[in-house]
Amino acid sequence: MTAPTGVASVAGLLGDIAGTGRDASRGGYSRPVFSTAERDLVTWFTDQAQRRGLDVETDRNGIVWAWWNPAGAPLTGSVVTGSHLDSVPGGGAFDGPLGVASSLAALDHLRARGFAPARPLGIAVFPEEEGSRFGVACLGSRLLTGALAPERALNLTDPDGTSFADAARAAGLDPRHVGRDDEALSRIGVFLELHVEQGRGLIDLGAPVAVASSVLGHGRWRLTITGEGNHAGATLMADRRDPVVAAAAAVLAVRDVARQHDGARATVGRLIPVPGGTNVIAGRVDAWLDVRHPDDDVTAAVVAEITRRAQHAAAVEGCTATVTEESLSPTAHFDAGLRERLREVLPGAPVLATGAGHDAAVLADHVPTGMLFVRNPTGVSHSPAEHVEDPDAEAGALALADALAELLTAPA
Ligand code: GLV
Ligand code: MN
Ligand code: MN
Repeated sequence: MTAPTGVASVAGLLGDIAGTGRDASRGGYSRPVFSTAERDLVTWFTDQAQRRGLDVETDRNGIVWAWWNPAGAPLTGSVVTGSHLDSVPGGGAFDGPLGVASSLAALDHLRARGFAPARPLGIAVFPEEEGSRFGVACLGSRLLTGALAPERALNLTDPDGTSFADAARAAGLDPRHVGRDDEALSRIGVFLELHVEQGRGLIDLGAPVAVASSVLGHGRWRLTITGEGNHAGATLMADRRDPVVAAAAAVLAVRDVARQHDGARATVGRLIPVPGGTNVIAGRVDAWLDVRHPDDDVTAAVVAEITRRAQHAAAVEGCTATVTEESLSPTAHFDAGLRERLREVLPGAPVLATGAGHDAAVLADHVPTGMLFVRNPTGVSHSPAEHVEDPDAEAGALALADALAELLTAPA
């Protein structure tokens, strides 16, 4: 499918940024929030928006907004789309940027049709959606909505010990003004995010685009196992208090406990022996636990059982273990009325739930919110293997344009 004259192709837009933030050692992209790579992407987005004559502003939480408002209407109650530009370490090219590029292309489609919006259209780019630098996912939308207290956010630190406050300041934000922003929130009359699908749903259904129904409840916990640092050669096996051995047992418990609860998913994707040397028995292991289930009570039971087993595994090795909650988001169900409207505009689009987290799920507690998913032929995400075929990307942008045209025409 070739884009009409004046309409940028999604593939072309993503091609512009294909060289930004490549990770030579992990493969794929590493674009942590406020890194040079992520800032370059924000600059690219700003440039694309300004070329289209949009008004671009960054709010006090670092969310970048680009406004199409030909009638000069008040921004309150606007239609807003968008996504994020930060990535997980070694992530794919589409998680986040597909939604941003598709938003620009959808705007081009609307203009090429001569469409006159009854309300302003905003394109929003949210910072730290992945939580890959400061640990809390959807940091920008959580700050915007007040779901995260500013003092908590400001004190979060990245793996190098840099605080969110310092990183935000270096990126041009004033940390004193970070936090719930009712004025910015009131501008969102309805939010619609397009995203690459992160599973196999659309492969199995044989469709390029889906309407989302819900986002699985999920949370993150920090698991710290403390033992005794010592010498790898001079310390007899009987004399060790090795937290890495306890961590290995704890990781097996994570898998086993999750398997005992239907629908639960539990992952340890990050595990750091400290200080970390081949000939050093670690003094401590820092590990992070990601648990997801539709029912928060089940999530709590899974985490409680993992905690019990991790503490037992630690005690067996003469170590101690603590588990601390870092974030928790209940299952989000998108607005049913909006979902039906999207299905009418996109006949044939299936309805899909997702196990991945999104800023849209945070916003769903505050404003009517929906999502569109675009087929990922590998079914793999948070990996360089994530993919979208060009025709599906263009179909997604067209679907987004049709959906936005409906929302921009009709009352909220
Ligand atoms: C983000 O993509 C998440 O699901 O953690
Ligand atoms: Mn994403
Ligand atoms: Mn992601």
